[in-house]
Amino acid sequence: MSERFRRLLDFGGVDVDRILAILETTDVMAQVLQRPVKRVPALQGFTVATLFFEDSTRTRLSFERAARAQSADVMAFARGGTSLSKGESLRDTVATLDALQVDAYVVRHPAAGAAHQVASWTDAAVINAGDGRRAHPTQALLDAYAYREATGRPFEETRLTIVGDVAHSRVARSDAELWQRLGAEVVLCGPPTLLPHELAALPGVRLETRLEPALDGAHAVMALRLQHERMDAGRIHSTSAYAERYQLTEERLANAHPDAVVLHPGPMNRDVEIDGALADGPRSLITRQVAAGVPVRMAVLYHLLVGKGSR
Ligand code: CP
Repeated sequence: MSERFRRLLDFGGVDVDRILAILETTDVMAQVLQRPVKRVPALQGFTVATLFFEDSTRTRLSFERAARAQSADVMAFARGGTSLSKGESLRDTVATLDALQVDAYVVRHPAAGAAHQVASWTDAAVINAGDGRRAHPTQALLDAYAYREATGRPFEETRLTIVGDVAHSRVARSDAELWQRLGAEVVLCGPPTLLPHELAALPGVRLETRLEPALDGAHAVMALRLQHERMDAGRIHSTSAYAERYQLTEERLANAHPDAVVLHPGPMNRDVEIDGALADGPRSLITRQVAAGVPVRMAVLYHLLVGKGSR
């Protein structure tokens, strides 16, 4: 395991032992969250700043809950109501928050590389909570944790199929990297215009434009929404044509493993990338994924701020 672990920006440079240690700490944090008083003093005296330059429901709220459940102070920073509107730069914003003694930054930004920029300007811990289409590592960790908790199946015996707008998805990139590092086989499926060919270079990852073979034998199937906010015109003919070909339904899962589970990182566009009945049905882990966000993010904050090798 590396000596110093102060940044989680993507999975580059994060060894598998560290990933497994975070998942192990997540088990402990999940137990804390089962207690009548869901709070421990582990991060007392630390201040966590959430810097969100792009909208979020799950990631932001679960990071704030994760920090408070460990008795950290939270500073929530958003685009509105701050001096960004007066022209203050991201760099000066970080310098200002550093002066206010922030210990950890949780950064979401529409630009790929923004969390790396923040990390280059501060000695505080930095977590990438989603940067453009590049990476969203805590989402991948919670997806893997929710899957392991629900199925108990070893990753080495797992085929994960991710279906949808892979090209614009930071979740797909982080999940593909994490699950293949844990030993799973990963299939990325979508229209040719939404499949980034560079991801096929990852060991254990293959691309497939046809849904039926992509689902064949899959143990975990993840649907991704069409990310219109990052998509150039002309990538798909129409939303309805896309849904007709790629929407996940119970019937289309007939080819998957009989015990296959369904994931979605959210936010979800029901009846576009996933049939509403499948999302609400017994195969769905979607609510469990959201719930896993809190103990996973507690574990990540703990590892970065007080864990072995963090200082
Ligand atoms: N999955 C995810 O990042 O959701 P939010 O955008 O709501 O945080």
